[in-house]
Amino acid sequence: MAQHDDGGTTAATGSAVVRSEPPVAKSGTAVVPSNAFENPGLPPHRLRATDLDPQKDRIAERRVYTLFFLSIVGSVFAVAAYVAFPLVPGDTNSVRLNNVFLGIGISLGLLAIGIGAIYWSKNLMRGDEMTESRHPTRGTEATREQAVEIFKLGNKESGFGRRTLIRNSLIGALVAFPLPAVVLFRDLAPAADPVPQLKHTMWATGTRLTHDPSGTPIKAADVTIGSVFHVIPEGLNDKEDRLEQKAKAAVLLMRLKPEDLKISAGRESWNYDGIVAYSKICTHVGCPVALYEQQTHHLLCPCHSSTFDVTNECEVIFGPAARPLPQLPIAIDSAGYLIAQSDFTEPVGASFWERA
Ligand code: FES
Repeated sequence: MAQHDDGGTTAATGSAVVRSEPPVAKSGTAVVPSNAFENPGLPPHRLRATDLDPQKDRIAERRVYTLFFLSIVGSVFAVAAYVAFPLVPGDTNSVRLNNVFLGIGISLGLLAIGIGAIYWSKNLMRGDEMTESRHPTRGTEATREQAVEIFKLGNKESGFGRRTLIRNSLIGALVAFPLPAVVLFRDLAPAADPVPQLKHTMWATGTRLTHDPSGTPIKAADVTIGSVFHVIPEGLNDKEDRLEQKAKAAVLLMRLKPEDLKISAGRESWNYDGIVAYSKICTHVGCPVALYEQQTHHLLCPCHSSTFDVTNECEVIFGPAARPLPQLPIAIDSAGYLIAQSDFTEPVGASFWERA
């Protein structure tokens, strides 16, 4: 015979266990407690200074709408600061100034709304606690009417309808607050139409091909068979937006035996004695194609393994790229330096832009 925690007893017969008595609920484990205490209710409501003194009520009201007006000033200040302290590429001081003043304006806009709302609810809205019993999600018609009444009462007690300066200044602050965000997000868009910018690069008739990153011009005689050069257009290093320009104009230069090149009609003059230049920007999603297999004349993109056949105008032979790497038509100038005949004849980079 065994005694259990719940008061029941069991007798073991062989391997079977038989309960001899029904369980008895112990005090403290029953669903309905026998010693329920009375609801103490809410503490008595203490009237605030603003409830007792109309003068203090007016002062509190003034503070609240002053805070909301301050919020408007903060939001407008943020917009003005963003325009007055523009971001200058490469100038960290301009970034610092822009961020500091923008931060001050946005912080003021947010803080003043928050403090104003809390101060309003603590000092001017009705202060005594109210409780409401739970009810079904959709109330009866009578309940709904009562809710409307309560809403009206709340409106009356909070003074939202009556204290017009507070109400209007709050609406003004909430309308003004998103303005900095609108201005900031608007400026994230490119200043000019991106399609022409992406369709054209720095390459133009007569632009010399130079070593990346030194910018030293390349002579055709220096390009031996099997070699590969990373190339940028002459003058790129002097550009303010050199990184953006490089992202479009980077080129790979290789020399093959002229008889190894398969050349389509119209492109016969685009290479110089087996020296060919192709965009380095992968036509899949724009990674730099940087691996050249000298034996197979394949160019590999390290991102998703697209493989381009240099002997066949950089046709895609493997991977997700949808079109060949664009070819840069080249020639030599009177001093023997390699030059571009023109810009690329098609957009470089991800195929998406070709459809624009
Ligand atoms: S970016 Fe080159 S294969 Fe994806």
